[in-house]
Amino acid sequence: MQENKRGSWGSNFGFLMAAIGSAVGLGNIWGFPYKMGKNGGFAFLIIYLLLVVFVGIAIMLGELALGRKTGLAAVGAYGEFSKKHKWVGYLGVISAFVILAFYCVLGGMVMRYMMGFLLQILGLDSFVGQGSGFFGFLLYDHGGMLFFFGLFMIINMLIVAGGVQKGIERFSMVGMPALFVILLFVVVFVAFQPGAIEGYKFMLKPNLDVFSNPEIGFLGVLKAAAGQMFFSLSLGMGAMITYGSYLSKKENLQRNALIIPFADTLIAVLAGFAVMPACAAFGVDYGGGPGLLFVSMHTVFEKMGNFGAFVGFLFYFLVFIAAVTSSISLLEVCTANRVDKAIAKGKEPNRKKITFIYGAIIFIVGLPVALDALGSGGSAIKAPYEILGITAGDVAAGFRVWNDCWLDLYDAFSEGVLMPLGALFMSFLIGWKYKPSTVFDECEQNGNKFRGKLFFTLCFKFVVPVAMLFVLWGQVKDFFF
Ligand code: PFF
Repeated sequence: MQENKRGSWGSNFGFLMAAIGSAVGLGNIWGFPYKMGKNGGFAFLIIYLLLVVFVGIAIMLGELALGRKTGLAAVGAYGEFSKKHKWVGYLGVISAFVILAFYCVLGGMVMRYMMGFLLQILGLDSFVGQGSGFFGFLLYDHGGMLFFFGLFMIINMLIVAGGVQKGIERFSMVGMPALFVILLFVVVFVAFQPGAIEGYKFMLKPNLDVFSNPEIGFLGVLKAAAGQMFFSLSLGMGAMITYGSYLSKKENLQRNALIIPFADTLIAVLAGFAVMPACAAFGVDYGGGPGLLFVSMHTVFEKMGNFGAFVGFLFYFLVFIAAVTSSISLLEVCTANRVDKAIAKGKEPNRKKITFIYGAIIFIVGLPVALDALGSGGSAIKAPYEILGITAGDVAAGFRVWNDCWLDLYDAFSEGVLMPLGALFMSFLIGWKYKPSTVFDECEQNGNKFRGKLFFTLCFKFVVPVAMLFVLWGQVKDFFF
């Protein structure tokens, strides 16, 4: 298929790889296992699955349909319905922009680990032996942080500047199958480690004890799972609207809207099957929170012996692919918005220029995240809490998480407020203003049949808005109170 001025996918498979690539990211391989570790394992898994079925699939369908129907990215898509709704699209673009600023710093850190294991394999470094201590070193190695952040950003810019088909689709069509094969290999390798079984038990043995834990409880698990589901499926930021806008009218939207969450969930569970049993086998705690991806996993590879460097390299390589295919979708949300604007004004869009300008600005906005040592204190750039004059004592006493470091601040603003707010309005617009029939009609293009109208009508009108209110409340509470 020839690309038009905006661009279009070359095939449905290419679209699926790109969209699954967007969904599968740090959220799956990092967030999912660590949140499951903290929220009761099995109980979290069950609630997560229910949320995907009753909320995630409907929003996915809604976003894809809005995009394909209008043939425009987030802002333009809402603008087609009413000029007054454009700001809902802008909420998405701004949160994509802010998330990118820290997502790319994390992507850079993943690359640093990948490189460390590679150098070890080549006999050029003793990376594996540095174990958990390396993380502390990395945070204060400002040159290294900047270098890898910049490198990760440049990779993103090159792919997105390449275009929808020749950049994003091409990269995803190679990267995603590779990711899947490597993940399977790691899962199988881990399965043969003595002691791995405890990890599976934690995930799969029916156990709802966490509901009676006064600090977490049922609502706590529901809140964690809802926020995670949302982020993991790349919803609420216009990413799926944008990707949907490049899809041909002849493709089956409803089937695609089922495949993407299915694949995303499968990979999150597989990542759990890699991380949890690995931690169990090597006596590393999986309830340790965000340090899981770096500190805990590095310790696992250190303890693994001869194979540690090799499996470690493969693991971080797959995390790297996952991170890139997600961050390019966020950058595309920003770029596509400008491309649409140029076309609307009758100008020839210069995708390369737009992408590079966005990339450069996002790099600048991300600098404090890369340089504040994630709030460990005494670094080149002060953490927000230090700027506000809050003492280490206040922090130790549990001072709020939103300003512990720049990453938390950006995350609170984007993931905590803008993203759920945008999605809440989107669900009201689709459920009550544009009406679910807009989505069904779009899905029935080209003779495709839409199944389950009653189910989806109920989802759009009631389940999703209520769930979104809950997510918003949960995120705001989590981040700020
Ligand atoms: N879904 C990605 C992850 O799980 O890491 C993150 C993400 C990408 C969120 C794109 C939102 C988005 F628009």
